[in-house]
Formats: sequence, structure tokens, C-alpha cells
Amino acid sequence: MRVGLLGLGTVGSGTAKILLDPAHRHPLVGQIELARVGVRSLDKPRSVAIEGDRLTTDLESIVSDPTIDVVVEVMGGLEPARSLILKAIAHGKHVVTANKAVIARYGDEIFTAANEAGVYVMLEAAVAGGIPVIQPLKQALGVNRIRAVTGIINGTTNYILTRMQREGGDFEAILADAQRLGYAEADPSADVDGLDAADKIAILASLAFGGRIKLSEVYSEGIRHVTAADIAYADRLGFVIKLLAIARRDSDFDETSDQALDQLQLRVHPTLVPVSHPLASVNDVYNAILIEGDPIGQVMFFGPGAGEGPTASAVVSDLLNLAANLRAGTTPKATNPLLACSHQHYCK
Ligand code: NDP
Ligand code: HSE
Repeated sequence: MRVGLLGLGTVGSGTAKILLDPAHRHPLVGQIELARVGVRSLDKPRSVAIEGDRLTTDLESIVSDPTIDVVVEVMGGLEPARSLILKAIAHGKHVVTANKAVIARYGDEIFTAANEAGVYVMLEAAVAGGIPVIQPLKQALGVNRIRAVTGIINGTTNYILTRMQREGGDFEAILADAQRLGYAEADPSADVDGLDAADKIAILASLAFGGRIKLSEVYSEGIRHVTAADIAYADRLGFVIKLLAIARRDSDFDETSDQALDQLQLRVHPTLVPVSHPLASVNDVYNAILIEGDPIGQVMFFGPGAGEGPTASAVVSDLLNLAANLRAGTTPKATNPLLACSHQHYCK
């Protein structure tokens, strides 16, 4: 399986390192060849060496290259990422992406195109970095009627809030550390203002509630106005402040009612979480997603929510699953999640 990688930043470098050194991993990883890598600048110092003419600034030539089977989009941003994904699909290539901003806005268009082209689009890395949550929601929890998804799903803001809690430190200095560690988005206001978490909860809600959630339906508020004093007062009262993303179904939908929207809460905001709550002890860059459903009850996913290694783990595992699916001859249609629509309001 020949891979074209779009982006060699934090996530792209981690992905390339695994593909270039597959020893001691699943044997199928050794059959995934990193054929070409697209970047903005050829002169930038890199933490991974890409030999010969495999490194290029001509990303269009990668998505149209007939020898490439899979395009891995880890460049971020809306454009040209969206167009390159669509062109890759039009050329019959499978796509693995970590780009929640594109999926949350254009998931519909992308999955419709993928369905028509008969190719896979896989996105485990797009939500909560290294934590497997997309696949479990679609498959292992598939029988459940989900009531709520509540998560800490932005590593940068959890890292900032945790350090403010521990050391009362300076917001800007801690944010600079999160950027240096590769946790933050290229424009970190997406993290700090809650927009990245909004993208992710829209994706999770689409999967959990079986429909297309529009971003405009998600209320979002970030952590800019949270002060060290707020955190100290919360602590005295037995709470921690966490940026929670919440998708909650309050009651059963009335399939014929226009009031259906009122019954689904979609919101991202700083929240007082009692210290005894399982989400209260999720610190640093760690993320957690608490899913409540019937018949499962409660299940929580926990792990590193950002960074090179954890996110590359999700990307390469998607590639491995893709390779296994192709080997087994499984049809892609069954795995295009946002097209499954069980509630008419969200399928209009
Ligand atoms: P970086 O900013 O570290 O890397 C982006 C890469 O894409 C760089 O190599 C850059 O090239 C290349 N690139 C960007 N725009 C263009 C363009 N227009 N033309 C050519 N090349 C371009 O981003 P990350 O690796 O942090 O993130 C990538 C994606 O993964 C994003 O969608 C992000 O939301 C997502 N993600 C990130 C996580 C993380 O922990 N960082 C975790 C989960 C998801 P050059 O190097 O030459 O500048
Ligand atoms: N900027 C994101 C975060 C990367 O901090 O969670 C992982 O999606």
C-alpha cells in the first residue's frame, strides 16, 4: 500500500517515523510504503529524513499520483486541505485524516464523495489524539442508545488549566509551552476559544446520535477569561475548572416535531467539575470521553489527547485497519459514519 503524506509537522513527522521504521510492529505496517511527502517549505529542518525526491511542495501531484493508494492528510487548516482530500477521493484514493476542522464542516461532502468513489475515509486521529473513540462509537458501542457524550477533548486547554491549577502560572507562557510541545493548533485561538473542542464534539455527536450535526448548533466558549483566582476559588469549594464538551440528549426525539433541536444540547465551556467526578482527575495533555448509553451505562475513554506519538498512533492504526480491510475485501460504504442517519431532523 503506497502512501502520500500531506504534511510533515508534529503529526506527519510521527507518522513518517513509524512508517520508515516498522520493525517490531504488526507485519502489515512493513507493507505500507511512505511513497511521497508534501510540505510547504523544502528548506525547513525536519526531525525525520525524507530521502531523495520523495519530499515535494507540489501537493496536487501527490493526490493525482496513480501509484499512490492512500492519502494521509495531516496538514491542517480548511483549504487547501478540503480540496486536496476531495481530489484524492476523485482519483480513487483512500484517505486518512486528523483534520477535525475539515471533517466537522465538510464531513458530509467528503463522505458522500467517498461513498460514491467506493473509498475509505478514516479519522480516528481527528478526535482526542491517541484515544480510540471513533471506532468504538461506531462499532463496539454500536448497539447502544447514547444519552450523552461528555469530554475533555482539547489537550492544549487541559494542559493550560492543569498548570494554572498547580502553579497559578501565566496563561501566555503556558500556552507557549503547549505550542512548543506540538499540542496546539497552528492558530492556537482554535484551542483557547473552544472551537477545536466544538469541531470534535460535533463529530462525536454525529456518530453518537446518528445524524449530521451542524457546527452552528454547538455553543462554544473558551478559557481566555478563566483566571488563577477562579481556579483557586473553585479549589476551595471542592471543584476543578475543566473545558468540557457536552452532547446530551435530554429526552426521546419526536420524529414529527420541529422542536427536536431543543432536545439535544451541544456545548463547550469551562465547567466546575466536583473533585470526586472521574473527569476531574484528567490532567495535563490527557483527554477523556465519558459516554452514557443504554444498555452500557457509563464507559470512559482516557489517554493522551495530542502530541506527535499519540496522534501518529491513531493515524498509523487507521492505515493498518485500512490495509486489513482492503486485504479482506470489505466494502468501504459500511464504514462511512456520518452518512448513517437515524433521526430525521439531522438528515434534512
Ligand atoms: P503542523 O503545523 O505541525 O504541521 C503542518 C504540516 O503541514 C507542515 O509540515 C506544513 O509544511 C504542512 N502544510 C500546511 N499547510 C500547507 C500548505 N498549504 N501546503 C503545503 N504544506 C502545508 O500541524 P500538526 O501536525 O500539529 O497538525 C496537523 C493536523 O493534525 C491538523 O489538522 C491538526 O488539527 C491535527 N491534529 C493535531 C494534533 C497534534 O497533537 N498536533 C493531534 C490531533 C490532530 P511545513 O512543515 O513546510 O511548514
Ligand atoms: N490542538 C489539539 C488539542 C490537537 O490540543 O487537543 C489534538 O486534536
